[in-house]
Amino acid sequence: MNFTDIVQKRRSIRKFTETQVTDDELHTILRAALMSPTGHSQRGWQFIVVKDRQVLTELAKCKTMGGDFIATAPVAIVVAYDANATDVWVEDASIAAVTMQYQATELGLGSCWSQIRLRNNADGTSASDVIKTLLQLPDNWEVECVIAIGHPAVERKLQDEEKLAWAQVKNI
Ligand SMILES: Cc1cc2nc3c(=O)[nH]c(=O)nc-3n(C[C@H](O)[C@H](O)[C@H](O)COP(=O)(O)O)c2cc1C
Repeated sequence: MNFTDIVQKRRSIRKFTETQVTDDELHTILRAALMSPTGHSQRGWQFIVVKDRQVLTELAKCKTMGGDFIATAPVAIVVAYDANATDVWVEDASIAAVTMQYQATELGLGSCWSQIRLRNNADGTSASDVIKTLLQLPDNWEVECVIAIGHPAVERKLQDEEKLAWAQVKNI
């Protein structure tokens, strides 16, 4: 699959089969993240690979809604950053996260982003703090998102060429 096809094929997948993601596949996905661009080449991201079912279940509960699918994924990657290291950590972490999603697509895997930054759990605690406590991460780290990855249990249509928002592109 070339990149033109990968960008059309990538869709958010929230249902996974029980087939595991192999260590080789995970290595390829993390390799892509570690090659992603960062401001001032800071490379301050931290990736925590979670396969433990109990921890995945806790991650799914770290915010009130929108993260349930993490509980049933074979693996999830917590994308964290030393927020003191750079003023563009949100961008650096996001670029790494989406790069992993495109790499997962190329491998025939599905993935979905669960937003953590700016999200809270039911009692108002920030989802990032919930995860930092759960995984015993340093205070100065912030969590941008969790990327759940697995073999798709649903088939999703390709991005619809006819529905692209070309009106939002201006030529000057
Ligand atoms: C910044 C960002 C935050 C997102 N947060 C969530 C989330 O918390 N839960 C979720 O189910 N999907 C989340 N998504 C996935 C979007 O819902 C999805 O990309 C969008 O609906 C378009 O669908 P597609 O990915 O299949 O093209 C997020 C995506 C991005 C880029």
